[in-house]
Amino acid sequence: MSADKVLILNATGKVGRNVCRALVEAGFEVSGTTRSANNRLAGQGVQPVVGNYTVRADLDRAFQETGAKKVFVITDYFRAAKSNAALEFRQGQNAIDAARAAGVDHLIFMSVADAECFDKQTNHMQAKVELERYLRQSGVPCSILRPCAFFENLDDAANWNPLKKGVVKFLSVQECKYCATYDIGRAAAVQFRDRAEWLGKSLDVIGWQGDLNQVAAALSKVSGIPVKAKLAMPIFLRRLFLNDLHHMFLYYEEQKGPRGTPAAFKKVVPDALSAEDWFRFHNRYADGSPIVG
Ligand SMILES: NC(=O)c1ccc[n+]([C@@H]2O[C@H](COP(=O)([O-])OP(=O)(O)OC[C@H]3O[C@@H](n4cnc5c(N)ncnc54)[C@H](OP(=O)(O)O)[C@@H]3O)[C@@H](O)[C@H]2O)c1
Repeated sequence: MSADKVLILNATGKVGRNVCRALVEAGFEVSGTTRSANNRLAGQGVQPVVGNYTVRADLDRAFQETGAKKVFVITDYFRAAKSNAALEFRQGQNAIDAARAAGVDHLIFMSVADAECFDKQTNHMQAKVELERYLRQSGVPCSILRPCAFFENLDDAANWNPLKKGVVKFLSVQECKYCATYDIGRAAAVQFRDRAEWLGKSLDVIGWQGDLNQVAAALSKVSGIPVKAKLAMPIFLRRLFLNDLHHMFLYYEEQKGPRGTPAAFKKVVPDALSAEDWFRFHNRYADGSPIVG
């Protein structure tokens, strides 16, 4: 058993792979779960644990195989939980229960900034609120990270928004608060390193704020070519087909949420990525060609 071993549940998604990267860079011995035997985790310096993080027996085996006493928990509302809040809650509850059984000494749960402030139609926030409550009552030593909108949404082919040269699209053109999933990992590294300081606390992960024209200006500066800002779909279609996300954006647009600020997050991660920084960090369009050079 090593104090520096960390197990990341759900290590291959938008969050998982960059949390892996940040924790490896911070010097932790990182293991990560994936259902796929044919995964790229080893190439990232991460020990793969092949299993399904939603299955309790696989979780118990993952803790046993790795001996990790630190765990980073990501639940996935849209895919693993099939957009079902009750199922996402049970999957997160499973992970918390398995961590307790394994004697974990620090669990970091990724929730969402201001999760409790969204209206009832924002279904994908519901389990996050319930899981925060369950975790705090579980007795498992924990911290909570609460990210805002990921920059990764700006290049998300799986959700019909691939990043193409000369244009950037999002579901809102108004001012939004963004973070890089890499900064979720860098914040986790700070919390795991300084356990005594962070136990029982939560932190909003907010790296930058700006409207879509400012995002486009950032990409233009980094790529050296003009970039147009466009709505990914008209607002009436957003309301019609993506009602859950539409209500999340209403909180951003009408109530200027979430309440946290980049300045507060930068007290913990001083070089949190801005939009320009993120385009340089990501450095590829959806077709694989580089943004810089
Ligand atoms: N997008 C945002 O701006 C934002 C902001 C804050 C919070 N969040 C939260 O972030 C979470 C999503 O994380 P993500 O973006 O990292 O997800 P993601 O990129 O969609 O990755 C999900 C991972 O889940 C695994 N998976 C998929 N289907 C599964 C299934 N049926 N059973 C078990 N595992 C399955 C896959 O791993 P393997 O195939 O390797 O097993 C996949 O790599 C959501 O809960 C969302 O609420 C998102």
